Amino acid sequence: VTSQILKIHIIFLCLLQQALDSNLSNLIKRNNELESLMGKLIQTCQHVEVNASRQEGKLMEECDVLIDIIQRRRELIGSKIKEGKSQRIRKLAQQIANCKQCIERSSALITQADQTLKETDHARFLQTAKSINERVSMATASTQVLIPEIHLTDTFDTFALDFGREKKLLENLDYLTAPNAPSIREELCTASYDTIAVHWTSDDEFTVVSYELQYAIFTGQSNIASLCNSLDSWMIVPNIKQNHYTVHGLQSGTKYIFVVKAINQAGSRSSEPATLKTNSQPFKLDPKSAHKKLKVSHDNLTVERDETTSKKGHSQERFSSQSSYGVVGNVYIDSGRHYWEALIGGSTWYAVGIAYKSCPKHEWIGKNSASWVLCRCNNSWAVRHNSKEFAIEPLPHLRRVGVLLDYDAGCVTFYDAVGSQHLHTFHVSFAQPICPVFNVWNRCLTILTGLPIPDHLEGLDPQD
Ligand SMILES: *[C@@H]1O[C@H](CO)[C@@H](O)[C@H](O)[C@H]1NC(C)=O
Ligand SMILES: *[C@@H]1O[C@H](CO)[C@@H](O)[C@H](O)[C@H]1NC(C)=O
Ligand SMILES: *[C@@H]1O[C@H](CO)[C@@H](O)[C@H](O)[C@H]1NC(C)=O
Ligand SMILES: *[C@@H]1O[C@H](CO)[C@@H](O)[C@H](O)[C@H]1NC(C)=O
Repeated sequence: VTSQILKIHIIFLCLLQQALDSNLSNLIKRNNELESLMGKLIQTCQHVEVNASRQEGKLMEECDVLIDIIQRRRELIGSKIKEGKSQRIRKLAQQIANCKQCIERSSALITQADQTLKETDHARFLQTAKSINERVSMATASTQVLIPEIHLTDTFDTFALDFGREKKLLENLDYLTAPNAPSIREELCTASYDTIAVHWTSDDEFTVVSYELQYAIFTGQSNIASLCNSLDSWMIVPNIKQNHYTVHGLQSGTKYIFVVKAINQAGSRSSEPATLKTNSQPFKLDPKSAHKKLKVSHDNLTVERDETTSKKGHSQERFSSQSSYGVVGNVYIDSGRHYWEALIGGSTWYAVGIAYKSCPKHEWIGKNSASWVLCRCNNSWAVRHNSKEFAIEPLPHLRRVGVLLDYDAGCVTFYDAVGSQHLHTFHVSFAQPICPVFNVWNRCLTILTGLPIPDHLEGLDPQD
């Protein structure tokens, strides 16, 4: 029994020792941590000392500069005042001297005249009186002879001093804070197919040293957060000195997100993000491709059925056969997103679509595998590709056909551009550059190009 008790006792001691050991090593670890924390605190303390005294030095320096400026200005203005004073005093002294001379001369004349008047000898009186009288009358009549030029206007009231504005500025001396966030003025921004001019305003225009413009392609609300957390995906334009900037070389028909950062010595703040989009690449009709029985307007934007013209020469590029009254746009698209519209000018027999460059010019578009179109024939509407037709049912007065081509995603979608109604989407892996194509069998149609992609088509997954 005793040996049993002894055993238990030893086990207990062992356990206690282990516990103490591990508790002790924990305590040592904690102690070390505390020591290193204290080291950091002391270091920070030193940094605060150093930084504060550096700032104090800077403050002294800056104030000395201000005081220096004030002293130099005081001397300069003081010497201007002195100069003005001595100039005026000089002029006034000259006038006083002139005055004195005149008074002397006229006093002499008065004495002479007095003596003459007192003369009792008639003969002598006659002798002098005439000439004295002449001199006296001349002295009072003529200003030139005896009265000097006197300017009492040379006073000293032209030096006005008012430092009210400067006092206010000086009273507001303080350390700089980071500028307020600027704001992008979307209503002032403008876009073409490859540029966007971004305009912004800042409450702290005068303390802002420069602006920085960041931009990236916007693909949806979900990417704002990830964009804002990472710098790598942004394009950055640093060191902008004015409150607008035009970004060049953008992709057409694309939405971008912009952020402007205002920077001064104390720090920087960023604007709320703004999304802006480029327009689609503009194009016109290519008259050289137009069928002989089509007339393209001078601005190359309208195509009209025309029986009279026959001057046009035949060429490879021209739509040629009886049934293919076609014309293409003067653009080849091999990337990006593009939107254009065809305004139907009373035509009841037309087709609007896209074709490969290699698309045969002697048959209607949509008949072959190199073209995709929406067409109207009298009162029936259809989409057609490779001779396969699907009837569609737009509102009966379809007046503007919208075409959205997303080359990279491989789809072309037709819309009623007035009613925003989706009509049809073709999914195609495009293998060649694409050009817009139009057929007109009666009346006319007009193209609208260089448009931005309408908001309601933005970010939609086109469905069939
Ligand atoms: C430290 O000691 C206490 C009390 O004796 C014990 O409960 C604990 O298990 C010990 N801690 C470690 C990590 O061994
Ligand atoms: C001291 O100034 C430097 C540089 O201006 C700064 O990075 C640091 O955070 C400052 N440290 C303290 C403790 O103020
Ligand atoms: C129309 O197209 C023709 C042929 O490409 C061109 O010579 C002419 O300058 C164009 N006119 C306009 C206004 O774009
Ligand atoms: C369209 O209508 C006209 C007369 O209204 C008719 O002559 C023509 O054959 C019709 N075209 C088609 C393809 O149905």
